[in-house]
Order: sequence, then structure tokens, then C-alpha cells
Amino acid sequence: MEKINYPLTQRRLRTDTHIRELTASVHLSHKSFIQPLFVNESLNQPVALNGLNGVQSETISSVLQTIENDIQHGIHKFLLFPVPANKVANNFDFSFATNVVKAIKENFGNDIWLATDVCLCSYTTHGHCGILNEDHSKLLNNKTVDVLSKYAAELAAAGADCIAPSDMMDGRIAAIRNILNALSFDGVSIMSYSAKFSSQLYGPFRDACNSAPNTHGIQNRKSYQISPFNINDAIASSLRDEEQGADILMIKPAGLYTDIIAALKQQTLKPLAAYHVSGEYAAIEAMVQQGFMQREAAHAEVWTALLRSGANMIISYASRNAKDWIERIVY
Ligand code: PBG
Ligand code: ZN
Repeated sequence: MEKINYPLTQRRLRTDTHIRELTASVHLSHKSFIQPLFVNESLNQPVALNGLNGVQSETISSVLQTIENDIQHGIHKFLLFPVPANKVANNFDFSFATNVVKAIKENFGNDIWLATDVCLCSYTTHGHCGILNEDHSKLLNNKTVDVLSKYAAELAAAGADCIAPSDMMDGRIAAIRNILNALSFDGVSIMSYSAKFSSQLYGPFRDACNSAPNTHGIQNRKSYQISPFNINDAIASSLRDEEQGADILMIKPAGLYTDIIAALKQQTLKPLAAYHVSGEYAAIEAMVQQGFMQREAAHAEVWTALLRSGANMIISYASRNAKDWIERIVY
């Protein structure tokens, strides 16, 4: 019998950490990370959030402490979700949100970059991202866009560095860019949730913001968020938002949608943000708790997938751990 020879081909470059580091296609840096923050008007004390280990719902004073801590850990970029105490169907009051933005920016100024969510789902009694018609069978696009753009202007006036509309109405990016420019907030950027899918993975977030749809009318967000079956809609929506003035395009969820990140990367020169959402985060944490995964390596593996597919920045609930974890990553 002739002896078969199996020559080493790829494995020489997998031998040890040194060569694995040298041959890596991507490297993680905490500089690419944005930390979400929840501030809830109805709280007197911060509370831990279900499913989102390491993240709490904050009061105005606790969020200042949290940001201080995050800065100590090298995290300077934040995405703020203000949650008002009172829910209404119309005539929204944005003063809590603007007070939070003011408090944060007065304390930290340009040491931090503060993006603020713009949406109505944590404001509405019914939990939808905009204004519904009388019998709750339709979400009214234009009325919603008018309210959202006023909200965006108030946040910019309060000091937000970036406006991040997550509502998924048509035309909101142009409307927001217009009003910001008209009020001389032309230096405030827009990070559009341009490819936001109608997903099962937002559960812990809706729990945190008390923002799940809960009405006799439309029961889900499929008439405004993108269908997971539709790649073209995600690309078209993103390119449209770019045209309307978005500075940063976002793909959300991230881990299940790396095909969208990669496809969009081919079609735009705008920076891409990947939002590893609450359900994706909670799923990893649950596996870790069962002993099936090593926490830091598991999150880092997802993050590398987002970078490989073309994301410039990552929104993760574990951003505040990114620096510590990344330093200790074993390639
Ligand atoms: C609301 C909003 C959602 C998220 C960000 N903004 C949830 C939703 O659309 O119901 C999800 C974030 C997460 O799950 O981490 N417009
Ligand atoms: Zn919403």
C-alpha cells in the first residue's frame, strides 16, 4: 500500500497566538463601541433590567454616575433612550427627555458623544412608534413625522450630538434634517435606523421601555418595520435615508443580518452601525449562564462577525466591558 501524504497547508498559520494575531483580518477596539442608556422618569432608584445583565434602568442622577464609570472604562459614546412616566396618544411632552440630555451634556460636555433615540413607542399608550388613527387600524405616517421632527429639534436644542430615529416612518430623515438645518443645528448628525427589521429579538428592550404594542388595533410593527424576508427593502430604505441626509446608516438586529451589512457596504460610502439588540444580547447571556459559552469570547465572536461584514461601529449592551474584554482576548 502506498503511503498517503497529507501536507500541511493552512495549519501553519494557525499554530499559536502570535501567528493568529498577525494573520487576523480584523481587530476589535473599544473605540468603535456605543453604550445604550435607559433613563426612566418613573424611577427613584436605578433597577436592573430583565435579560440585560450589566444594564440598568436609570434615574437622572444615577445615569450621570453610570456615564462617569463608563468613561473610566474608556467608553465615551452613548445611545440614550428616555422613558417618560406618562403615556399618551397625542400631545406628547418631551421635557423629561430634554432634561436628561441637558443634564448629561452639562456634566460631560464634549468628553462624550450623545446620540438620542427619536421614536414614540415609549410615549404612546398603545406602544406603537407613532400616531394611530381613530380605530387603531393604521399608523399615520405624516402626522408622526411632524411630531418626530419637533422632538428631534428639541433634543438638538438640549445638546444632543446625534439624532437616532428608530420609528421607521417614511420621510423622517429629510424632515429631521430640514428642521435641524432651519434651526441652525446643522452640526447635529443623524444616525438612521435605516435597515431595522421587524424582529422577535427586541423583547428585553420593550420590557425595559414598556413599549410593546398593546392595543385592539394593529398588534405588531410589520406595517412599518422591514420584513426579514426582504433584502431589497433594507437596501432601498438605507440608500433612501442616505439621500435624505442620514450621516450614519444602521442595521438592526445585527448578528442575524450580517448579509445586509455586507450588501449595504458595497453600495454606500456612509459609515455603518450594527446594533446587537437586546434579544441577541440576552440569548448569549442565557447560554453563558447555562455554562455553554464563555462570556467575553462569545460577545467578542459576535463583534468580529459585525466588523468582518463591514460595520464601522457597534452598539452593544456590553460596550462598557469592551475595553477590558478586548485587552484579554486570546486569538
Ligand atoms: C423602538 C426601538 C426598539 C429598539 C430600539 N428602538 C424596539 C422596537 O422597535 O420595538 C430595539 C433595541 C433592542 O432590542 O435592543 N423604536
Ligand atoms: Zn419605536
